[in-house]
Amino acid sequence: MQHDLFSPNGQGKPDEAGKPNKKNDMPTWHQRAEQLKAELNRHNLAYYVFDAPTIPDAEYDRLFRELQELEQAHPELISLDSPTQRVGGAPLPQFTQQAHAVPMLSLGNAFDDNDVVAFDRRVREGLLEQDVEYSAELKFDGLAINLLYEEGVLTQATTRGDGETGEDVTANVRTIHAIPLKLQANSAPSVLDVRGEVLMYKADFSRLNERQRDAGQKEFANPRNAAAGSLRQLDSRVTAQRDLRFFAYGIGALEGVSMPATHAALLDWYVQLGIPVCQERVLVRDADGLLAFFRQIAEKREALPYEIDGVVYKVNRLDQQVQLGYVTRAPRFAIAHKFPAQEAITTLLDIEVQVGRTGAMTPVARLAPISVGGVTVTNATLHNEDEIRRKDIRIGDTVIVRRAGDVIPEVLAPVRENRPENAREFVMPTHCPVCGSVIVKSDEEAVARCSGGWTRCAAQRKGGLQHFASRKAMDIEGLGDQLIEQLVDRSLVQTAADLYHLDLPTLAGLDRMGEKSAQNVLAALEKSKSTTLARFIFALGIRHVGESTARELADHFGTLDALMPASEEQLLQVPDVGPVVAQSIKTFFADPLNISLVRQLAAAGVHWPNGAAVSGGALQGKTFVLTGSLPTLTRDEAAAMILAAGGKVSGSVSRKTHFVVAGYEAGSKLTQAQALGITILDETQFLNLLK
Ligand code: IVH
Repeated sequence: MQHDLFSPNGQGKPDEAGKPNKKNDMPTWHQRAEQLKAELNRHNLAYYVFDAPTIPDAEYDRLFRELQELEQAHPELISLDSPTQRVGGAPLPQFTQQAHAVPMLSLGNAFDDNDVVAFDRRVREGLLEQDVEYSAELKFDGLAINLLYEEGVLTQATTRGDGETGEDVTANVRTIHAIPLKLQANSAPSVLDVRGEVLMYKADFSRLNERQRDAGQKEFANPRNAAAGSLRQLDSRVTAQRDLRFFAYGIGALEGVSMPATHAALLDWYVQLGIPVCQERVLVRDADGLLAFFRQIAEKREALPYEIDGVVYKVNRLDQQVQLGYVTRAPRFAIAHKFPAQEAITTLLDIEVQVGRTGAMTPVARLAPISVGGVTVTNATLHNEDEIRRKDIRIGDTVIVRRAGDVIPEVLAPVRENRPENAREFVMPTHCPVCGSVIVKSDEEAVARCSGGWTRCAAQRKGGLQHFASRKAMDIEGLGDQLIEQLVDRSLVQTAADLYHLDLPTLAGLDRMGEKSAQNVLAALEKSKSTTLARFIFALGIRHVGESTARELADHFGTLDALMPASEEQLLQVPDVGPVVAQSIKTFFADPLNISLVRQLAAAGVHWPNGAAVSGGALQGKTFVLTGSLPTLTRDEAAAMILAAGGKVSGSVSRKTHFVVAGYEAGSKLTQAQALGITILDETQFLNLLK
């Protein structure tokens, strides 16, 4: 792909020395680089500070690439504040310790209304009955950081550490797009310590864990841990792939300009400087106002895109803050009002087992209904039998239950002192509660499994069909869990292939189904027949074969006929596939029932373009990665076109990737591609390539 580096206004090029071309007034390289930097920074600002994206990601990427190419050709143009410098660098041997110019203190806590009223009273006494105004804001659940800007340029980022000294995480912080590398100011302060919280949005956290899961790596327990783990990375290239955010809420040292009069004015000034500040804040005049804010935020909490663990109240006038001062390590002028813990105590009524898609038996706690952080909980997971024994949980016990974010509540521990006489231990049933087959447990695994398989066990059948129909598998819209339940219970469907033989009267006759929804399901089934090999392999539900492994298998073997008879050695050639996965794939295709399922699905019309079968296509030998949503093509359509032209589609960016096709809201894959210097295409460029 050829860019004209010097066509910001579609005219000529500067002369060789990069001097202004007087005749048509073209910018020099230097000027163009500055223009690009300013424009990219402006878009960043619109996105992260004002929450109002100004251009599509593809356009941002085009400008970014232009700057990157310009800097490659003229390295002297690279400056510390260039947006291209956010990709991370060589790993550090260790973090260095850095003392804070002004200590980073923590906050005292209020847990109920009385604590808040008492705080307000102490403030008024301390200020000798002057008028008070409070700034009420969110208490972000991330980690505190100090950003040092010298003459407007970010020069150092330090974690809170023990409050006196923290770790220098500058290299990592420079990769966070929400944090400006340079302030938007004509006359920036000579020294400014911006204080705030680094955090990860809930959606980015789920995506990260999905990636970790697919890659067989450890998942993070919550967004806070994920943010902390990402920031305390010796390899800043890893941090660059984690979507971290930042909100400013305080100040340390300040030199060269005078301090704003109030906390609210400080935050407004930050916004002008291009520093993200959360707008979920109010000014109130008394304890009633503080408590009203607390209640209002508690209502909103679940709907916020990030996690908070309470709210913070601060005396608004900074001179009054100074007057009030500190007690030991906490300020008298501010307090954190924490939400009640997401934990509660209740009675464990019974333990039942749930049978999963692969026959895994998960013990589920039936609880006396209890409100945990505002949500009524009646069921919680107990993970597995060993876990129950390790925690010494008995039926009848009083137990501690925790609910965090959107994840399934879990039983943390029993309250031993309250154990009733008749509390009894859980024993894993010997036979499956659904199909009666024997339950087996191997030594290597913590889980017990129903040996019935999907032919005998309706629970496994339902789980398998749900997986088959799911979005990342065959994507059969409208074929939800309740419908599958009915289809299996009425013996209308035994295998996935049977789904494709359903007819309108049968579907329309089911509970909560009408003619229209039945038609929609049939249309979705028809549409799903045209798929990709990777989706099909994933849909089969082979144990240990997740979405990304399925993709690797499809890329490697090209056709199902090549994959099915593959030996263990052949399977081990595939990236991501180790002995356990290879064995599982072999076992799956050694079962005649599975072979017959595959044949029946093909006979029903399920098809996909074969990779290796196409040779000599325009994209022969080229590996593509798709990311973000394209303006007109779905990702599957784009993938099918690539495969049809002899190319390969991979799920992850590596040095072996030839092209990344990026659409709106492209995420870390795009960043990785930029870091590796891989050619990035928008939809138009991609379609041109196919021509
Ligand atoms: S102000 C002297 N404001 O809470 C006051 N802190 O226990 C310094 N935090 O380590 C802190 N949101 O990580 C302040 N809006 C907010 C906050 C906030 C979260 C965290 C911060 C700090 C801890 C204080």
